Amino acid sequence: MRMQTVTERFLNRNISTNRSERHTLSYDEYVAAGGYGALKKALLMPPEEVVNIVKDAELLGRGGAGFPCGVKWTFLPEADGKPRYLCVNCDEAEPGTFKDRLLVDFDPHSVIEGMAIACYACKLDISYFFIRGEWVEQAEIMQRAIDEAYANGIFGSQGLMSGASSFAVECTLQRGAGAYICGEETALLEAIEGKRGWPRIKPPFPAVSGLFGRPTIINNVETLAAIPLIIDRGTDWWKSLGCESSIGGPASYGVKLMGVAGHVNNPDVFEAELGITLRSLVEDFAGGMKNGRKFKGAIAGGVSMGILGPDQYDAEMDFDIGRKYSVMGLGTACPTIFDEDTDMVAVARNIARFFKNESCGQCTPCREGTDWIYQLLCRIESGQGSMKDLDQVIEVSNSMGIMPGTTICGLSDGNSWAMRTIINKYRSEFEARCKPHMVPITPIASS
Ligand SMILES: Cc1cc2nc3c(=O)[nH]c(=O)nc-3n(C[C@H](O)[C@H](O)[C@H](O)COP(=O)(O)O)c2cc1C
Ligand code: SF4
Repeated sequence: MRMQTVTERFLNRNISTNRSERHTLSYDEYVAAGGYGALKKALLMPPEEVVNIVKDAELLGRGGAGFPCGVKWTFLPEADGKPRYLCVNCDEAEPGTFKDRLLVDFDPHSVIEGMAIACYACKLDISYFFIRGEWVEQAEIMQRAIDEAYANGIFGSQGLMSGASSFAVECTLQRGAGAYICGEETALLEAIEGKRGWPRIKPPFPAVSGLFGRPTIINNVETLAAIPLIIDRGTDWWKSLGCESSIGGPASYGVKLMGVAGHVNNPDVFEAELGITLRSLVEDFAGGMKNGRKFKGAIAGGVSMGILGPDQYDAEMDFDIGRKYSVMGLGTACPTIFDEDTDMVAVARNIARFFKNESCGQCTPCREGTDWIYQLLCRIESGQGSMKDLDQVIEVSNSMGIMPGTTICGLSDGNSWAMRTIINKYRSEFEARCKPHMVPITPIASS
């Protein structure tokens, strides 16, 4: 297994491994490093050919769900001369996830180039870059990069790349107001439309009826930043990286940004081939466990995915991780590492608090369930809970989510997976905190 850091691939447009040396790449620096060459190449092909290349590359979405990007693009209906949209998802509010931010901070034109190629391939003439509200600085960086792209003829009415193609694309940056739920793709559409960020019932899917009721593609920042590389270097190169599925599922090709946080010596974002083990990511990239402590577990890739337990340090970071290690999936591939001293009951309570705060409140099982779970865990953590409370956390968790079919979006599935995996993998810690619910038997003194 080969592994590279961000400087050696993907972000090799001058991003240093030395954090203090990193800087935002300007348009000129990006072009000097070969940037926008892939767009030039794509514009010489018919749009359908570009879609086919992305499909053949089997690029799986980097936003969390891992849906095949090229396949999603084929769901669009035929263009009818009316507006069609691209929405870039830069909400990145999943706790522990900080990989899209790196691209925005240092390599914003790689995302813009990916956006321009996607618009050309899918015949989308209006693009929105949706960024979470808290990222004031990143919104400014991105706005400057968009302005540079306009000034250099990438976007604008003259047609893509100063008229190299008559197909014209406009781009607008839209700031969110700081709600996690606006990262869910249909809530994001509502937010761009100026409404409260409430997820929509699907179908219809956005490719058919999305922003303002028109065909829309929503892609994650990192997914789009991968497109220029695939066009530039080809699908064979892309597929030479990563790994095949070991259980007959879709392959995990290419490299992936993995942000490692928690109890490690060198928390950062690293770029590695999919399939790298969590142990290697921690030991070879992130400087090993802090203070030489033992690995106790890790949030798999965003809290929604659940927890990898103490015996899963060698889990392969690929899109099969869910089925192999009893978590929901790879998610954002940004693990938070816990050492042996971590109180897993407190971890569960903290995660539950996040979900109860971020539930949008539309669906009763999610609105009520997230709050009940939080209250039950507070009781257990304080030593006032019973085994019945613990069972109830599991029962409520099992009843909420798209998977049991009781909610509109996946936020509650995230809560459910986080709770069930932590309790299942560290049950003894929870039990130790619960009050015995049997009346203790006092020995009868023998006469
Ligand atoms: C509660 C929730 C939050 C989400 N947050 C994000 C996010 O911050 N960024 C993101 O790209 N996708 C997020 N997603 C996934 C999106 O709905 C969508 O699948 C993704 O943006 C599609 O892009 P991709 O196919 O390129 O991965 C979230 C999903 C849910 C259910
Ligand atoms: S599952 Fe939760 S966050 Fe999603 S729509 Fe329903 S209430 Fe809102």
